[in-house]
Amino acid sequence: MKRLTVPKIRARKTDGGTDEPLVMLTAYTARQAQLLDEHCDLLLVGDSLGQVIYGLPSTIPVTLDMMANHAAAVVRGSYHAVVVVDMPFGSYEASKEQAFESAAFLLKQSGAAAVKLEGGQAMAETVAFLSQRGIPVMGHVGLTPQAVNVLGGYMARGRSDAEAEKIVSDAKALDDAGAFAIVIEGVVEPIAIAATQAVTCPTIGIGASAQCDGQVLVTEDMLGMFERVPRFVKRYENIAEMIVKTVARYAGEVRDRSFPGPEQTYQPKD
Ligand code: KIV
Ligand code: NA
Repeated sequence: MKRLTVPKIRARKTDGGTDEPLVMLTAYTARQAQLLDEHCDLLLVGDSLGQVIYGLPSTIPVTLDMMANHAAAVVRGSYHAVVVVDMPFGSYEASKEQAFESAAFLLKQSGAAAVKLEGGQAMAETVAFLSQRGIPVMGHVGLTPQAVNVLGGYMARGRSDAEAEKIVSDAKALDDAGAFAIVIEGVVEPIAIAATQAVTCPTIGIGASAQCDGQVLVTEDMLGMFERVPRFVKRYENIAEMIVKTVARYAGEVRDRSFPGPEQTYQPKD
């Protein structure tokens, strides 16, 4: 199977009809990417790895090196999905030139096809600058976790008229600037619909209703690795429980000396 391309993703506007929505999940490691790849159109190396992998309190401390290393692993583990890398906080906001340098570093180090960055109107010029210079950009509007210190938390967006208008105009600005897709996070359904209808590129929702042109979740959230997840997460499994039970069996067998058994033990004659 040949790897999908950014233009193929760009063309997947569903127009609310019967067209198949885009499937995206986060991936941070090679083996995880291998397991997700055939079922996904896009793999996102999200800066959510700050919390999920590194136990950080937010995505703010995530660095370019962390993103580049995990993105390289995900590219090595996949052959089908388009790999998109998040630009971490502080690596792109100062200027379009800073953004280009950081994005080029990420793509050169990892082999990923595209970057994602947070922000609307304020990032439009940067999105145009990058797209015109060979770097496809995915936008991200609504609840933008890198702005947690400005927003004051991770609550759903678009409940006031002013906020709702800003989300739609932000999406439109990114679309006009050449974004190939836009993540809409934590946005009330009518505004997710309005934003989706206002843009020509596909929107990918997370906590933004079924009306977007695709969906994304953090894989560990969806698999049930964590006790606490946002309301918009559906936990399809309880992997945390499976892991704890499995580890308990291993620990028990080590302690009662039933592991390793004969099958796991080398003898001079075999
Ligand atoms: O970092 C991330 O995982 C993301 C998705 C949740 C959209 O940005
Ligand atoms: Na992110």
